[in-house]
Amino acid sequence: MKKDHKDWKIADLGTSKGSHTALNRIITEKLKKLSGLLLQQDSKCWEIGNLCIDLLDNWGLSLGEIAQRANYSKTRISHFHLTARIFGRDQREGYTFQDSLTARQVYLGLPRLNMTPVQIRNKIVKMRSKTTKQVRSYFVHLLMKREMNKSLAKSRKYQPKGTGGLINTCHHADYQSIIPKLPAHSVNLFICDPPFGHKEYIPGNYLSYRTKVGGMRTDCDNSSAEDALAATLPLFKLCLPKLAHGGVLILFQLGGRPDRIEVLQEAQKQGWECSYGLTWNKGSISTGNFVNPYRICSERILVFCRKGEKVEKGQDGMPTPDILDFSTDTSGIGIKMGRGKMKYGDCHLFQKPSTLMEFLVSHHSYPCDLVVSPFGCSGVDAIAAHKLGRRWVYIESNKNNFLYGSGRISQALDSQTTKVG
Ligand SMILES: C[S@@+](CC[C@H](N)C(=O)[O-])C[C@H]1O[C@@H](n2cnc3c(N)ncnc32)[C@H](O)[C@@H]1O
Repeated sequence: MKKDHKDWKIADLGTSKGSHTALNRIITEKLKKLSGLLLQQDSKCWEIGNLCIDLLDNWGLSLGEIAQRANYSKTRISHFHLTARIFGRDQREGYTFQDSLTARQVYLGLPRLNMTPVQIRNKIVKMRSKTTKQVRSYFVHLLMKREMNKSLAKSRKYQPKGTGGLINTCHHADYQSIIPKLPAHSVNLFICDPPFGHKEYIPGNYLSYRTKVGGMRTDCDNSSAEDALAATLPLFKLCLPKLAHGGVLILFQLGGRPDRIEVLQEAQKQGWECSYGLTWNKGSISTGNFVNPYRICSERILVFCRKGEKVEKGQDGMPTPDILDFSTDTSGIGIKMGRGKMKYGDCHLFQKPSTLMEFLVSHHSYPCDLVVSPFGCSGVDAIAAHKLGRRWVYIESNKNNFLYGSGRISQALDSQTTKVG
């Protein structure tokens, strides 16, 4: 009987000439029952799941056909069906369907957890006071912690040796202790991407729920907007004496807002001129929620030079539009991590795209110039500088970020051939 009906289509059932066959009637009855159960689904979830399995396995219907005939969402039908399949009849006693459904979703979404659905459900049962989102976030963090520990151990192996020198070296330090040690007029390009100060999730702020549970690193040494400003302002006084003739300081700032007056005033006071205010179009929306009228998909890039000097064209020699289109490396990465295509913790939320950094380095410096990255984090600036044949200095105060960034730099040094000219 099962074989005869494997190829049946719903359309055939409904339109076949003559009256319905006995089998046709059975299926119609089952679908009717299913529709009835779906209306009272809370108490009948397991039964719905069983019925779906029966219709699929014994009566040759597809999920789409069941959904169409029962006039119900295919996704929901699939939830009932798969949950009932994963948790067989002997594994249901004492557990709610919702616990089992969440366990199934965690099991399928986070294969790298290496836990069985039953183990996951046993943990979920103890979190009944939490929302489904909170439960999922717990498992993501569990996985992140495990994988980060692994990747930190790997990073330690890659830490550069002989960190005594200043140039082409990673410094685990506050930039305020390293920059004064650089020779006067030695730096051609400072690339400064200080924290913007959005540590906690606040609707509309930088850390959306998805990034919070998305598996990306979010460590940062400065939490509030005031902290971030305090970390930014000293740059101007410290960096000017180290700036080579014709050198430039690039400062990333939050997009979609007016440039901070405190920053512009301090720069001017210390003898800098803000020559350009560029917009980096990230190509994806990173902040904002549906309450705000604008969702921010850009950052500002302020280009400073010494007062009285001019920002010259760099090695690539071509003027470009003041809107820079470079998509972020971080968009969609949470999904890749969730699907196991990328390791948790192998990307930092604040990580800039390597294409953007290579553009900025080649636009504002020449081979053998010195590029300094006071807020080094993932090391992308130093890696771009090395790749383009510049000398570099990487500074990062946060220990986790330092291990991550310096590890990446060491790997890049091992694997990349320097491109000069
Ligand atoms: C916005 S992130 C930089 C991201 C970086 N551009 C990248 O692409 O990976 C800012 C970094 O600066 C670090 N930081 C904050 N204050 C610092 C300080 N005074 N000295 C050195 N690093 C600092 C933070 O820990 C954080 O890793």
